[in-house]
Amino acid sequence: VAVQLKDYQAPDYFIERTVLDFDLYDDHSTVTAELTVLRNSDKGSDLPPLVLDGQELELLSVSIDGQELPSSAYQVSDNHLTLQPQTKRFVLRTQVRIHPESNTALEGLYRSGKMFCTQCEAEGFRKITYYLDRPDVMSAFTTTVRADKQRFPVLLSNGNPVAQGEEGARHWATWEDPFKKPAYLFALVAGDLWCVEDSFTTMSQREVALRIYVEPENLGKVQHAMDSLKKSMKWDEEVYGREYDLDIFMIVAVSDFNMGAMENKGLNIFNSSCVLASPETATDAAHQRVEAVVAHEYFHNWSGNRVTCRDWFQLSLKEGFTVFRDAEFSADMNSRTVKRIEDVVFLRTNQFAEDAGPMAHPIRPDSYIEISNFYTLTVYEKGSEVVRMLRTLLGADGFRKGSDLYFERHDGQAVTCDDFIKAMEDANGADLSQFKRWYSQAGTPRLAVSSYYDKASAEYTLTFQQSCPATPGQSEKLPFVIPVQMALLSADGEHLPLQLKGEDSAQGCERVLAVSEAEQSFTFVGIEAEPLPSLLRSFSAPVKMSVEYSREQLLALMQHDSDGFNRWEAAQQLQLAILNGLIAAVQAGKTLKSDPQLAEVFAGLLADSSLDQAMLAEMLSLPSEALLAELAEVADVEAIHQAREFLRKALAQALYAPMWQRYQALRAQSREQAYAADAEQIARRSLQGKLLAYLMLTEKTEVKAACVEQFEQAHNMTERLNALACLVNSSFAAEKAQALAQFAEHFKDDALVMDQWFSVQAGSVCPGTLNQVKALMQHPAFSFKNPNKIRALIGGFCAQNPIHFHAADGEGYRFLADQVIALNALNPQIASRLLTPLTRWRKYAPARQAQMRAELERIRASGGLSKDVFEVVSKSLAD
Ligand code: ARG
Ligand code: ZN
Repeated sequence: VAVQLKDYQAPDYFIERTVLDFDLYDDHSTVTAELTVLRNSDKGSDLPPLVLDGQELELLSVSIDGQELPSSAYQVSDNHLTLQPQTKRFVLRTQVRIHPESNTALEGLYRSGKMFCTQCEAEGFRKITYYLDRPDVMSAFTTTVRADKQRFPVLLSNGNPVAQGEEGARHWATWEDPFKKPAYLFALVAGDLWCVEDSFTTMSQREVALRIYVEPENLGKVQHAMDSLKKSMKWDEEVYGREYDLDIFMIVAVSDFNMGAMENKGLNIFNSSCVLASPETATDAAHQRVEAVVAHEYFHNWSGNRVTCRDWFQLSLKEGFTVFRDAEFSADMNSRTVKRIEDVVFLRTNQFAEDAGPMAHPIRPDSYIEISNFYTLTVYEKGSEVVRMLRTLLGADGFRKGSDLYFERHDGQAVTCDDFIKAMEDANGADLSQFKRWYSQAGTPRLAVSSYYDKASAEYTLTFQQSCPATPGQSEKLPFVIPVQMALLSADGEHLPLQLKGEDSAQGCERVLAVSEAEQSFTFVGIEAEPLPSLLRSFSAPVKMSVEYSREQLLALMQHDSDGFNRWEAAQQLQLAILNGLIAAVQAGKTLKSDPQLAEVFAGLLADSSLDQAMLAEMLSLPSEALLAELAEVADVEAIHQAREFLRKALAQALYAPMWQRYQALRAQSREQAYAADAEQIARRSLQGKLLAYLMLTEKTEVKAACVEQFEQAHNMTERLNALACLVNSSFAAEKAQALAQFAEHFKDDALVMDQWFSVQAGSVCPGTLNQVKALMQHPAFSFKNPNKIRALIGGFCAQNPIHFHAADGEGYRFLADQVIALNALNPQIASRLLTPLTRWRKYAPARQAQMRAELERIRASGGLSKDVFEVVSKSLAD
């Protein structure tokens, strides 16, 4: 059942033109497709059978060049329609009946609330009509949509509107997309939608109409997305020279959506959570997510649509690159250092865990059972890190030359990761053959660093040793090219000029060492005293680096390093050292003692008025329990939780006065200022939230009162939700109950806000959380058919609440398995994703391993498994 990269074959036939006609009704829809099929002449002049993909389609008729075929002239199976062409070019017309109204998998054409919408990537188009559903078949689409006039006044598809008309109570609209595209970029929307309209003038002075369509009650929540879209269009012109190409760009918000959003040509379809934002209903993080996802999907117009993927093994070609593009956009729009810290924390916590688990794969996988399972952190986030390394190695200008050549050379084509690298090589005269191992080898490389200082010769040598753990199917790994961005600091914090042995002169105070061998040394000359190295600056490679730093050295880096990321990293390393000590103490049954050093450091940070507030908030954030689990050889859930909670409380007690003072000042500022989702205010609220969470651990009455005040009076969701989360995790039962009830009463009609209400409760550390989660599944605002609800409540518990999910009685595991079994039939993609925490069973001690495995086995035995769930379960149980 597995598809292999090495088996790739070019298609036997192409589809030059695709003319679709949709007749949408409440109890069925019909789809008529007229495909101009052409033999791929590269493959010969014979005429092999034409094998079209199709699933869950009821075939009504087939004709070729106007001649209806008898049923003896074709074969229909569960996944294909096969027929024998007689000429090398012909028009195939099929008519099928489908049932969007009962499509709960949210793949293909489906209903979300009252509207019709589509999700075709990766292989959803075959649930709409018989087709060559593969990205290397690119076609010019014309689409007509027919539906009831009153209930579906808006009828949309890709490209430009070219005709419309009425037929009694129904109407129709025809759209034409001038750009050839693969079927996965097809989209259709029909509904009672309203839009906010704006326009953008491109660099060549073309006027583009911008429309964001939402259900009428959400019209007040699209301005932020519209602003983000205009910023993205401008940024892509300035930074990549990429101009938009159609006269109209549309975004539609839908409530039921498996992922974040989809870059369909000219008609992006978004999960409403990634479009809608208002100060009263969306947190700062949600505002930033909207900005990032709008940018991501827009950027796909070039990195994905104009240049697309040859096959799905190349997914990172468009996703890794586009994540890198959106990350740089966000860095330019907000705080660059904070964005980098957030991304690295996310990568280390989640992608490194994926790399260490049974689903580990290279950013270009070489086989899959279900491609939906490979829309992963590895393909997206590690893929982005690989593109970032290319830029680090080639320099910003060289990278831009490479991307220019890539877009120019491959415009209109379906290409591979090799083509991307080739463009980078050709534009720079570079040899990236060894670098390409990042595309084929899975796992997180380890990089051990040691140093040697020779006073007599004033030489300083850094030695790097790299290795990479075995991953499924890959026991041996060859050395990677690891760009180590670095500097050397003197005792008083100066950054030293860097001259390698053999060079005539120093090359500045920061440089990139390309480590390409298993063991490799670099010797710097003219170093008058033993320096302090600042390594892997800005996290220049997705590796686990180990360097032996003393606490004094970490403190010096925190103070003097000119790289903001590494200042934060030094604080992280100090916190990790302290936490690991506490975890060991818990395990040894010792009473925990607080270490005064971290409190001193935090006090210094709090007193430093020059420090950016967002940076301060990041530096005050202890590594999460999930990250501590990932870093541990064997994750001891209880010890991690106890150690971390102990340290948080100790810090809150030691720093009560400065924290309380700073909190009150920040809250006062907030009361006085109108909300804006700008960098300065976001930084302030982020720090304020961190401080409140610490302060609430002291359980002081004055803090409780302040928390309730903030919850009730805040004019924005960030402060309100932070306060709610603090109350939910506290022992103030009455205040907690009241706040939850008040919140639900106020926001019961706002689905996205209720998602936040569910996830705050799912994440509670208080006893009884699992029972509360089960009870909330009966709440009227919950729905098992809405992915956002599943993610908020069930995902919130299983993936974000380690201490309860891993409860010793195994109830958390049982709960997750029950949900996966129930969802498997309804929505395989969501079921499969939800499973992730169980796949990590190898991380835990034997008793938990056995419980987790037993639940995986129960899922495997439950029968009727979708490919999605089957692949994850069977790979998790394989040895
Ligand atoms: N291409 C979309 C994005 O990056 C993701 C769509 C994936 N959908 C899926 N069902 N796997 O932004
Ligand atoms: Zn994407």
